[in-house]
Amino acid sequence: MLKKENKGQYLKMSLAAIGKDLASFDSEVLIFIIDEKVKSLYQEDLNKKVFAKLRKKKIVIFICKQGEEAKSFAEYERACEYILSQGIHRHAHLVAIGGGATSDFAGFVAATLLRGISWSIIPTTLLAMVDASIGGKTALNSRSGKNLLGRYHFPRQIYVDTNFLKTLTKSDLDSGYGEIIKYAMLSRKIFDFIISKSGKNRFNELITLCAQHKLKVVEKDPLEISLRKSLNLGHTIGHALEKAMKLSHGEAVFWGMVAIDKLFQNQVMTDTLLLLAKDLGTDWAISPWERADFDLSALLLLIDKDKKRQGEESIDYISFKTIGQMRVCSIGLQKFVKKLYVLQGSER
Ligand SMILES: NC(=O)c1ccc[n+]([C@@H]2O[C@H](COP(=O)([O-])OP(=O)(O)OC[C@H]3O[C@@H](n4cnc5c(N)ncnc54)[C@H](O)[C@@H]3O)[C@@H](O)[C@H]2O)c1
Repeated sequence: MLKKENKGQYLKMSLAAIGKDLASFDSEVLIFIIDEKVKSLYQEDLNKKVFAKLRKKKIVIFICKQGEEAKSFAEYERACEYILSQGIHRHAHLVAIGGGATSDFAGFVAATLLRGISWSIIPTTLLAMVDASIGGKTALNSRSGKNLLGRYHFPRQIYVDTNFLKTLTKSDLDSGYGEIIKYAMLSRKIFDFIISKSGKNRFNELITLCAQHKLKVVEKDPLEISLRKSLNLGHTIGHALEKAMKLSHGEAVFWGMVAIDKLFQNQVMTDTLLLLAKDLGTDWAISPWERADFDLSALLLLIDKDKKRQGEESIDYISFKTIGQMRVCSIGLQKFVKKLYVLQGSER
């Protein structure tokens, strides 16, 4: 079990209140890593509501590349060299402002800078508010694959101001819904909430419910030895779909769940998944395997590479025949690959 104070405090508050809270930190040096798009959209707000309140502190600001582009060695070097050149010390506190890619990246910087400094997150995308900001996983990408460098480094605070969501593109918003649908499959409470409530008012509460679910799971199993594996629902095929078909993370997780249901569960959950996607307003009508550019061999290559990296002959996936009841299943790699042919309608 992770101690409560170590898993990160999840606080919903306005940007102005976040600024005030940061001003009360005992660390006199605050390092901000901000996604460049977020900076361009929120420069004025950040100046007025956050930086203006931190006049008594030394502030170091690093603007990182937008989204996934930040999670590279080059950007990591650029960030570390810049921050270190500003003469910071081990008691400095780092604050990430951006989506899941920015927090993965900034968290990795925080985890490694001077052998690790404390950090907090201000998530600015739906996906980051319900998922990526929680649980202490930090990461960079390698040419060999996504998130292959990383550490667990739990943030001190996760500050959520849902006003950031107003500027998200439809596709980035939908990506968050993919993870929310995953939570609806993991929790009867979240599923019932989505189905029984309508309108914009449900949005705020839904974010809290999903975040609470993840916080609870992470508290019980911080290092993903058992229960936390359930959060990988949809990811076994989803990760490969994300890369091969250039889908957003959330959309890939969604179709990853549909694929598992199609291949292993006689489609008992597919109607429910499609209903949720429609109810939340996503445009995901056509599955990746129905698209003309679907390339099964690219998908197989990615899955095979991923497995080889783990040095295992079998592959794990999460089965979810009923809402709230997950099971980690293991299947031989060859058998799994054979199953995947069903996706392109060419069973072997
Ligand atoms: N650490 C974890 O536990 C965890 C979990 C899930 C996903 N992830 C990672 O999260 C990343 C995906 O996160 P994401 O979906 O937040 O995407 P992202 O961080 O790539 O952001 C998507 C886009 O939205 C822009 N953006 C961010 N905030 C905005 C705002 N308020 N208004 C307008 N534009 C804004 C960004 O500039 C970017 O172009 C992936 O790298 C994935 O691997 C990590």
